[in-house]
Amino acid sequence: MAAPTTTDQEVSGLRAGLTNYGDPDFALFLRKAFIKGAGYSDDALDRRIVGILDTQSGYNPCHANVPQLLEAVKRGVMLQGALPVTFPTISLHESFSYPTSMFLRNLMSMDTEEMIKAAPMDAVILIGGCDKTVPAELMGAISADLPAIQLVVGPMVTGSHRGVRVGACTDCRGYWAKYRAGEIDIEEIGNVGNELVPSSGTCGVMGTASTMACITEALGIAPLGSACPPANGSQRLRVAELTGKLAAKPLLRPTEIITRKSFENAITVLQAIGGSTNAVVHLLAIAGRVPGLDLTLDDFDRIGRKTPLLVDLKPSGVNYMEDFYKAGGVPVLLKQLAPLLHLDSVTITGRTLGEELAMLPTPFDQSIVRPLSDPLVPNSSLVVLQGNLAPSGCILKQSAMSASLKHHRGKAVVFKDADDMLARIDDPNLEVEPGSVLVLQNIGPVGHPGMPEAGYLPIPKKLARHGVKDMLRISDGRMSGTASGAVILHVSPEAAVGGPLAVVESGDEIALDVQTRSLQLCIPDSELERRLVAWKAANPTGTGRKRPERGYRQLYHDRVVQADKGADFDFLRSADK
Ligand code: FES
Ligand code: MG
Repeated sequence: MAAPTTTDQEVSGLRAGLTNYGDPDFALFLRKAFIKGAGYSDDALDRRIVGILDTQSGYNPCHANVPQLLEAVKRGVMLQGALPVTFPTISLHESFSYPTSMFLRNLMSMDTEEMIKAAPMDAVILIGGCDKTVPAELMGAISADLPAIQLVVGPMVTGSHRGVRVGACTDCRGYWAKYRAGEIDIEEIGNVGNELVPSSGTCGVMGTASTMACITEALGIAPLGSACPPANGSQRLRVAELTGKLAAKPLLRPTEIITRKSFENAITVLQAIGGSTNAVVHLLAIAGRVPGLDLTLDDFDRIGRKTPLLVDLKPSGVNYMEDFYKAGGVPVLLKQLAPLLHLDSVTITGRTLGEELAMLPTPFDQSIVRPLSDPLVPNSSLVVLQGNLAPSGCILKQSAMSASLKHHRGKAVVFKDADDMLARIDDPNLEVEPGSVLVLQNIGPVGHPGMPEAGYLPIPKKLARHGVKDMLRISDGRMSGTASGAVILHVSPEAAVGGPLAVVESGDEIALDVQTRSLQLCIPDSELERRLVAWKAANPTGTGRKRPERGYRQLYHDRVVQADKGADFDFLRSADK
């Protein structure tokens, strides 16, 4: 597809989205009169307007560089003769979003969609980064379908603890596990805490934020080379300036860029980077906003089978985002992956992915991004499992788990919810052994609500102290993209709506076979049916949760769809229409 020309898109400026009731000339007059109160001249106002979505917040340290990004973005917009106008939306940080940032993702997407529609602008720049912000912005921007471009805040750099490089947040978990096992003391864990987050920006490993940043390049909605430059470096500001320049020119709409082909490219990248399990839910939700686009869990497994893991970053590998950046970042990866990609997908520049890649220099030799001929893992870093325990599927990051657990059968130790797990996991009398399967119920979209990242159950203290590092764990929740282990997630349907996970009992045997993608509860069909009927009788309203009395919590409880559809709200999805 050719890039749009200036004649393709009329400049709307302040006229964009003018009220369709009353006197539109008067409405325009009022708009101008009010915005002139901020000191604008007619010359500034009579031109293309680029809205810039500003997600800085005192509660979002990952976005602490947004003020500098705004300055650079505005410079880029003005260098091309358009007018930049910033506006705020909700901002979500992982550690400051009670009950979970995932619970608030859909709210942020609604805020984003409606604010884009509410104010006059010809295009919008979405500034995001911390885990749920980019998915929320893409979901909202697709639904608004105004020309849009993504700018991520960039990853943080690494710190140093006693001569060892550390970074959020794989190392947060590693050091905390050492502390739980009694290997380090309270003073040392405090010292590590000073070094894990040494700058602004998003977690410096291949967690959810980095994964989604890489995916924005693969989808074509962000400029090539924009995902990896560190948040506090000069290249990050040049990326911001470039983003502003691109947005000031006529731009394609999200639904012209984000197609089935670009999603398949995104899934290829997700598998090749050993990306976050959370990205699966987010991509399903983002795709769900595109009219007529039917992306399913099967697509992830099908593409995974032919896609090797090429990027050596924690938690699947050993390096950090700043190393990926120095190795050339996503463009180098896309060059390696080219035989597996749809190169005719159109990108934000109006050029195809193939045309963009052809403009790049030949990659230099390095060890962070492997060639297709020498992968870290030959295929399927993320797998989709099916079986009587998860009729609508569940996922497992097999690139970051103990190989010995890939074919495993063990007795379930069941926790009925997150509180039960907290109360009993470290009980010295808990009946658990290294081969047990830890099962956590009721942390799904409806169950908790908002699918907390509690699916990464800690190893019971009494086993951790004896050197047990990994166990098979199963839940309907999520885990942080920075975590690793034999952790089966997103079991659908979830326990709180009467999925089979709800009726697993301690002592039941569970069998996993990654090779055949199978997860089975080893009880007779008749017994499973009997338990499910009993669950329904005990929960006549269809959910095991008390319906919240009011507000967003009630809306969420009533309208959230299951994880295999992205945990969006049913009324926001367009894919089925
Ligand atoms: Fe913001 Fe990890 S907490 S990206
Ligand atoms: Mg995270």
